Amino acid sequence: MLAEKRILLIIGGGIAAYKALDLIRRLRERGARVVPVLTKAGEEFVTPLTVSALAGEKVYRDLFDLTDEAEMGHIQLSRAADLVVVAPATANLMAKMAGGHADDLASTLLMATDKRVLIAPAMNVRMWEHPATRRNLATLAGDGVLVVGPEAGAMACGEFGPGRMSEVPQIIAAIEAALGAGPLAGRHVLVTSGPTHEPIDPVRYIANRSSGAQGTALAAALRDLGARVTFVTGPATVPPPGGVRVVRVETADEMLEAVKAALPAEAAVFAAAVADWKVENASGQKIKKTAEQAVPTLAFGENPDILASVSKMEAGRPRLVVGFAAETEAVEANATAKRARKGCDWIVANDVSPGTGIMGGSENAVTLITAEGAEAWPRLSKDETARRLAARIAAALG
Ligand code: CTP
Repeated sequence: MLAEKRILLIIGGGIAAYKALDLIRRLRERGARVVPVLTKAGEEFVTPLTVSALAGEKVYRDLFDLTDEAEMGHIQLSRAADLVVVAPATANLMAKMAGGHADDLASTLLMATDKRVLIAPAMNVRMWEHPATRRNLATLAGDGVLVVGPEAGAMACGEFGPGRMSEVPQIIAAIEAALGAGPLAGRHVLVTSGPTHEPIDPVRYIANRSSGAQGTALAAALRDLGARVTFVTGPATVPPPGGVRVVRVETADEMLEAVKAALPAEAAVFAAAVADWKVENASGQKIKKTAEQAVPTLAFGENPDILASVSKMEAGRPRLVVGFAAETEAVEANATAKRARKGCDWIVANDVSPGTGIMGGSENAVTLITAEGAEAWPRLSKDETARRLAARIAAALG
């Protein structure tokens, strides 16, 4: 809940400004007080009257509005809030923030505030992917600015890709997390992610096609619900999320050590695609082609089963242990058997047959196996799958 929380909401000039209107309503429903600031460009998309009527507050628009300066100076306005939210955050607003400009009320408030700032970017996909925006985003992340979204999807301009502002429930979840008010506030959750690399020699290794996308999305979704997340990741292709503790490992053995070191946790989710085998006769030196023996023989040994060993811990077992199952046939039957064999509470099963495009792709179609049975979820983006799973985990932890 956001009762008693005061949010300074800066509405930038983008078509997504219409979502800011619903955001105001939903925040007020949760008991928050929303003090709105509308940029000049924002006024082209939503009217000051609508914003102020929905917020039940005066809408602040101009830096040189003397009445306001008498009522409340811009410094005070920026600091009286518990959180500053920028939605939509346009490419231009992000550039101003990154550059430290203060040439209108919104940018001045952002410079003057001593509170955390959360931005919900919204722009055309080319603008989002432009190197200047990438640079600005990195600068803002370095300054401690929190970011929610953007999402990939069809855009108002007719193009498709990342740049669409997050939906209101996601922005609210990010606001709650920023204010430490989410359902998982203060809870420690462990997530493993990515592939492992099992060395053959110092330059070669055995790996798998896992990108780490699902584990990364899950860690972000748990963080957004307020959890303190430890993210143990193999060498994934997608970058780890911000705002979580990242522990990088390479091999299954290292992953097990990192997991043990990170416990205790209230819940542990094992999304990593851990190699089942390691090369037992891995060479300390690069294996050379020789005339006598051109083709080396690798001897495989079994890797520790991290999920099973945590599930079967006698003391200090997380209250909820969730495994993943990558299957290519009889998904439900295999995953149900795997849940029993590994001793975990839930299994999130997915079909990784090449035709599905799931492994390494951006979507997932999972079946959740619990003690109560199997639940087939629709095909969803990995982000949405992660949010639903995070919400279930929050509900299960109570
Ligand atoms: N897992 C693990 N440690 C391992 C292997 C797997 O922690 N050494 C975890 C994965 O993170 C995942 C679950 O176990 O949560 C299932 O992994 P999967 O590879 O699908 O199952 P396997 O145990 O390899 O079973 P099989 O080879 O029969 O599919």
